[in-house]
Amino acid sequence: MKRIAVLTAGGDTPALNATLHGLVTQANAEEVEVFGILNGFQGLVGQTAPHVHLNPGFTIIPELNPARGGSIIGASRHYVHPDDEQLLEQASRTISRLSIEGLVCVGGDGTLNGLQPLSQILPCVLSPKTIDNDLGLNEQGEANRWTRPIPDQPETARLTPRAHAAVEPLDLEGIVNYVTPGYATAVFVAAGGVTRVRTTAESHRRVAIIEVMGRHSGYIALGAAYGQPDIILVPESPVDLALVTERVEEVYRHQQNVVIICGEGIVDSEGAEFGARRESTDPSGNLLLSGAAERLKSLLCDNLGDALFRDIGGHSDAATAIFTRKVGHTQRGGRPLMFDRFHASQLGAHAIDLLTSGQNNHVSTIQWSADDGFTLGHHSAEEFRDEWGVIHARRVDPSFYDSSLLQVSAHGSRYLQNIFTDSIGADDADFLRNSLFDSGNLDAPYESINVAIKRRVRELGD
Ligand code: F6P
Repeated sequence: MKRIAVLTAGGDTPALNATLHGLVTQANAEEVEVFGILNGFQGLVGQTAPHVHLNPGFTIIPELNPARGGSIIGASRHYVHPDDEQLLEQASRTISRLSIEGLVCVGGDGTLNGLQPLSQILPCVLSPKTIDNDLGLNEQGEANRWTRPIPDQPETARLTPRAHAAVEPLDLEGIVNYVTPGYATAVFVAAGGVTRVRTTAESHRRVAIIEVMGRHSGYIALGAAYGQPDIILVPESPVDLALVTERVEEVYRHQQNVVIICGEGIVDSEGAEFGARRESTDPSGNLLLSGAAERLKSLLCDNLGDALFRDIGGHSDAATAIFTRKVGHTQRGGRPLMFDRFHASQLGAHAIDLLTSGQNNHVSTIQWSADDGFTLGHHSAEEFRDEWGVIHARRVDPSFYDSSLLQVSAHGSRYLQNIFTDSIGADDADFLRNSLFDSGNLDAPYESINVAIKRRVRELGD
């Protein structure tokens, strides 16, 4: 293989440049040229196919800094639908005009769906990323547990519970793709946010509801347990409003403040989302969710009434005492933690090995074992596809969450500790000390990496 392309698709993460860096380093070793296609699938199917040569002379371009968040080649939520022949023909044309012999897509479950038709055109490999930590399988064969009560309605898809899920904790060594790059940094931000909101809730005798990202997967909410919230609500466990109300009142009476973490995709007992949903254009047609925390606030205000907050907190009413905050896109941006940098880079390098050793439609993965820690592996994309060919976002296993305590379970803690115990590097702490209050920041305007990259962009026909 002489030349391959790489693109970063779907929502970005802090670790994308680290993946690109690992990938290009390995490509240099194997003397493979790497073209970075701009803006995900959008670049590949556009008429001009804007791209950047990431390793001219098999040397990494200096703009590619693995410790920088985001993606220097841009990301988008564009989708290549398997039935869109015109788009696929356009992609084929681009691939042959650029003499590309293989493609690495850095993405999540949506990107893996989008990669399926492309793998019919040329060898493709997915290098995983997503702050949602939902590209993976809790166990091998899990994709076959997705059912569709109404076969021609994909939205009716449901995951049949794992056999003996109620009594047997998930085998951590059997998880396919234990963790995705970007997750650790997102949790770092979310858990840190909880600790910051806590002290102000304590001082002002308030109830804080903090909404985190993750769509229908509750991994970020689960990881935010490190910030010691009083209550954690994940989308996988329908909210028992009576229990939540009771717990809020109990904790408030005890310590005059409550911190609740809620995943943006939490659902009620009927399975309906708390927040509003909006269609998005990302590869699997994922939804955008918003407003879960606000809705929870309104229900808690109704259930708890004003007197509790007047008597204990000196507030005029519940609506004043309870406040909501979204961690929002701060979870997705900024410098990646050492854990993310290291594993993203490894997965990117492994993706090159997979391509050059002749694999197609495979996923570069990471698994964990007590004896070996984290190691690299790979799986055919087929293993991730359900009976209808669809790849679903991984959900938090029931054994990771205690739905009566509304907290991460003991087994969930074990899962998290393997990721987070050594996730922060000494250089991460140094960076914090040296960067933000650098006096140079006051004089110099921000220099966007996009400006430097623009100089390197080539288009078909140039
Ligand atoms: O998939 C990553 C993610 O950050 C989700 O957790 C979130 O729902 C979504 O992207 C937000 O998308 P956007 O950046 O388009 O608002």
